[in-house]
Amino acid sequence: MTADQWTRVDQYIDELFVGADPVLEAALEASHAAGLPQIAVSPTQGKLLYVLAKAVGARRILELGTLGGYSTIWMARALPPGGRLITLELDEKHAKVARENFSRAGVSGVVDLRVGPALALLPLLGGDGPFDLIFIDADKGGYTEYLSWAIRLSRVGTLIIADNVVRDGKVADPNSTDANVQGIRRFNDALAREGRVSATEIQTVGAKGYDGFAAIVVGSTGSTGSTGSAGS
Ligand SMILES: C[S@@+](CC[C@H](N)C(=O)[O-])C[C@H]1O[C@@H](n2cnc3c(N)ncnc32)[C@H](O)[C@@H]1O
Repeated sequence: MTADQWTRVDQYIDELFVGADPVLEAALEASHAAGLPQIAVSPTQGKLLYVLAKAVGARRILELGTLGGYSTIWMARALPPGGRLITLELDEKHAKVARENFSRAGVSGVVDLRVGPALALLPLLGGDGPFDLIFIDADKGGYTEYLSWAIRLSRVGTLIIADNVVRDGKVADPNSTDANVQGIRRFNDALAREGRVSATEIQTVGAKGYDGFAAIVVGSTGSTGSTGSAGS
């Protein structure tokens, strides 16, 4: 299998299960035109976030790392009437593009975009939770602390998804000097030791290359037997 093949299969899945979506395509185009890095989730991954939000009946969603709001729009579309999504973004330039994309997508009324370092904004969210779905997709060095905050802002049954946990397979190399890999390895170690959750990770390939998601459910330890020191 090659990266070209992954991309072709992603396009095939995309045509079947995502299809033409002018609003989301415009969000990506506007992000690109504004010079934002092209590191949004892929269309099929965005649809997965939508499906997961629907599956857990998410009314309150928290996202760490907005970029141009591509994944935000996917999740916001899954909200029921009265639902709300808070998304945290460090960079005002990214936030400005995201706001325009939210407006074009008709989700500005349900999306609350907060600008600043996630670690400064998370302690202010106590009154907004507990969240039903939390998507961690900001700087990889912060993932371990984001996990702690995500659990603190959860209820039993909250689903936490963290992106980019495989990083081209480099995550399996304990000697990697890549700061992002080290950040994810610290996160993985903390997650494996965390006794309040059940978790696993899935490798992904596709148009965005080779990476992976962590899937974490809060407060369900012991339900599937022990697979590690977390006892879940
Ligand atoms: C991978 S991108 C997010 C992609 C977006 N979730 C999507 O799929 O469309 C990561 C974003 O996190 C932001 N970020 C980086 N460090 C951050 C921090 N400390 N707090 C909040 N956001 C941060 C970056 O500016 C960037 O826009």
